[in-house]
Amino acid sequence: MKLPPLKIKDLEIQLPIIQGGMGAGVSGYCLAGTVSKEGGLGVISSVALDKIIFLRKNQKLSAREATAVEVQDAKELSQGKPVGINIMVALQSQYEDAVLGALDGGVDVIISGAGLPLRLPEIVDSHPNKDKVKLIPIVSSARVFDLICKRWKRTNRLPDAVVVEGPLAGGHIAWRTIEEAELPSNSLENLVKEVLETAKIYNIPVIAAGGIFTHEDIVKYMEMGCAGVQIGTRFLTTYESGASEEFKQAVINCKKEDVILADKPGSPCGLLFRVIKNCPFYEEALANARPIKCDRGYLLINGKCLAKENSEEAFCICNGLLSAINANDNPNEKGLYSVGSNAYRIDKISSVAEIMKELSGE
Ligand SMILES: Cc1cc2nc3c(=O)[nH]c(=O)nc-3n(C[C@H](O)[C@H](O)[C@H](O)COP(=O)(O)O)c2cc1C
Repeated sequence: MKLPPLKIKDLEIQLPIIQGGMGAGVSGYCLAGTVSKEGGLGVISSVALDKIIFLRKNQKLSAREATAVEVQDAKELSQGKPVGINIMVALQSQYEDAVLGALDGGVDVIISGAGLPLRLPEIVDSHPNKDKVKLIPIVSSARVFDLICKRWKRTNRLPDAVVVEGPLAGGHIAWRTIEEAELPSNSLENLVKEVLETAKIYNIPVIAAGGIFTHEDIVKYMEMGCAGVQIGTRFLTTYESGASEEFKQAVINCKKEDVILADKPGSPCGLLFRVIKNCPFYEEALANARPIKCDRGYLLINGKCLAKENSEEAFCICNGLLSAINANDNPNEKGLYSVGSNAYRIDKISSVAEIMKELSGE
């Protein structure tokens, strides 16, 4: 099937494929800029950009300045085609700076989840680029989507589209227990159906995410009524991704049973987090051998990090993720590898152009 473009108000993306934001530093300017150049919507991750820009350019910038630079570099690579940014609500200390920096850099789309992005339109409203940017929340239920619509209406704004992310996705997923995540009622197909119903009321395009791997998967969700899909894991092992060589090889080598939802110890966010279980960082965390340390502080919830309070409940995700990418300033630290549930189906490193061609079905 020839895939139609993704239309988000006046913004038109040649292919209905959004590359999901992957923090920290996996979806940097290089991956996002190339995906956009190849006709999809490339999405950078806002996580730790101050640190990443320092390592990449030797420039000491604030979080806001660094975010603007990363967006501008992605846009240069995309040859002016639209570029998005993913900003996690859970990154409370840098949330506002990341939103404003992305707008300073001229970002076209802000995608925000891992918490409720209730304040996003208020923050955007103060910026001169407020009318140019498209705002897309990530939700995992129609109830939360409806709540966000009602709250955003107070600022005279509705989501320009919505990503509905199911339990097979990489990174954090919306459920707190494995039993809940595995309930048939929480399958992506069911979540998409309920969110489509609510989206009809507000006339908002729906984008499906989590476990989408092939052209046929994309067609399936388009036929259900989605305007597009968001895909993460397939782009993880591209030449253009910021994942370290060890991370990419671990994805290529992993088997189905190696991909698990980490829980106790899990992510200090309090949400389930999908990892390759035999990655060096997670093995160490399981053995409870990690000293309690929090020297990065990106993921403080109300000023606190659960990993610092109780290492049996949670591991220090900031250090693990920053050691799983090329821009690594601490070679002594072990890498934490997050992937989607279909990671075991990947058997080689590819270029973004190859992946986009395969997904487009041409
Ligand atoms: C390594 C990795 C890091 C991720 N980081 C983020 C993130 O920072 N913020 C976010 O909203 N989603 C994140 N995700 C989720 C992706 O954006 C995407 O929605 C999801 O992986 C889709 O499922 P798939 O990997 O099966 O295609 C991450 C996924 C992976 C694999």
